[in-house]
Amino acid sequence: MDYEHMLNGAGLDAIVIATSVKYHYAMARQSLLAGKHTFIEKPMASSSAECEELIEIAESKGVVLMIGHTFLYSAPVRKIKEIILSGDVGEIRYISARRLNLGLFQKDINVAWDLAPHDISIILELMDEFPIRINCQGNAHITPGIEDVTSMSLTFPNNRFATIQNSWLDPRKVREMTIVGSKRMVVYDDVASLEKLRVYDSRVDVPPHYDTFAEFQYAYHYGDMYVPYIKQEEPLKIECQHFLDCIRQGLTPLTNGEQGLKLVKILEAASASLKRNGASVNLNLAARDTSETPAWAPAPAPAPQLNRAHFLIRTTGKTRVGVPHED
Ligand SMILES: NC(=O)c1ccc[n+]([C@@H]2O[C@H](COP(=O)([O-])OP(=O)(O)OC[C@H]3O[C@@H](n4cnc5c(N)ncnc54)[C@H](O)[C@@H]3O)[C@@H](O)[C@H]2O)c1
Repeated sequence: MDYEHMLNGAGLDAIVIATSVKYHYAMARQSLLAGKHTFIEKPMASSSAECEELIEIAESKGVVLMIGHTFLYSAPVRKIKEIILSGDVGEIRYISARRLNLGLFQKDINVAWDLAPHDISIILELMDEFPIRINCQGNAHITPGIEDVTSMSLTFPNNRFATIQNSWLDPRKVREMTIVGSKRMVVYDDVASLEKLRVYDSRVDVPPHYDTFAEFQYAYHYGDMYVPYIKQEEPLKIECQHFLDCIRQGLTPLTNGEQGLKLVKILEAASASLKRNGASVNLNLAARDTSETPAWAPAPAPAPQLNRAHFLIRTTGKTRVGVPHED
């Protein structure tokens, strides 16, 4: 079935855009303008200006716009959030994330745009706050101009920060995150088949009062480690169900267009910093930016050959959802 038929002839209520990132904007725009509830895979689009336009169209059409920040629907991330909300971790001091593997090399986006959306979405959820500054360094070893290794840091208010390492040039598949709190530390290893989370009763305290340097002593605390129970559930299934629930019940998705926009703004800032060898790029995520597309945004892609695309239509209850079909 061609895309034109999906938009206008197939009687669909909703469409899932899971194509290369360079096609997200054009396809999602057509879908929203046709009045379809639209799910877009991460990252939402190639620039914040495109994201803003998609949000506005979705609002004007009164349809659901949801972004595929899949890890926010995963049981380990939900569990970490629960542990943080319980107060067990204390104040989060910093988060470090590593998402590395060999390939898959992309031609339209660098490794930060490919892999960091997962880490950024998790970090924003856990920090419950937006960064004020981004620094990013990297290198293109294989494809000229497309960085395959990047190291990003996100500075948050109140001296909190996060680092993200992404690579398509690593022999091992690594998906690790360490959340360091004032009371406990959580290590999340998404590659582990069991025991994906470990909570360490470890911390370092500085004495509140001291008069001389000799009195100053760090207090290292080594306590127990425990492995929280996590019910194994497929995040993609939960994510798809949430999309359908939002459509049927008129809810705003947990990962809506605004979340997608904020994430793309961070990626744009990372690209700007990359071009300036890691220089700081300040972010103001409070207000929606209506300025022109920044110069560092990836070049707009030519219009996709929509009539040659193949799609699979899945009927789920009363809602008909079109999903691009893997060739
Ligand atoms: N949320 C997640 O966990 C997750 C994981 C992997 C990829 N992704 C995202 O999913 C998207 C697709 O990634 P992928 O690795 O599956 O890519 P892919 O290249 O393997 O698949 C893209 C699909 O899009 C189809 N397609 C390409 N051009 C098209 C067009 N013009 N019109 C219609 N269909 C077209 C292709 O036939 C193919 O089936 C990307 O946005 C990526 O970032 C998300």
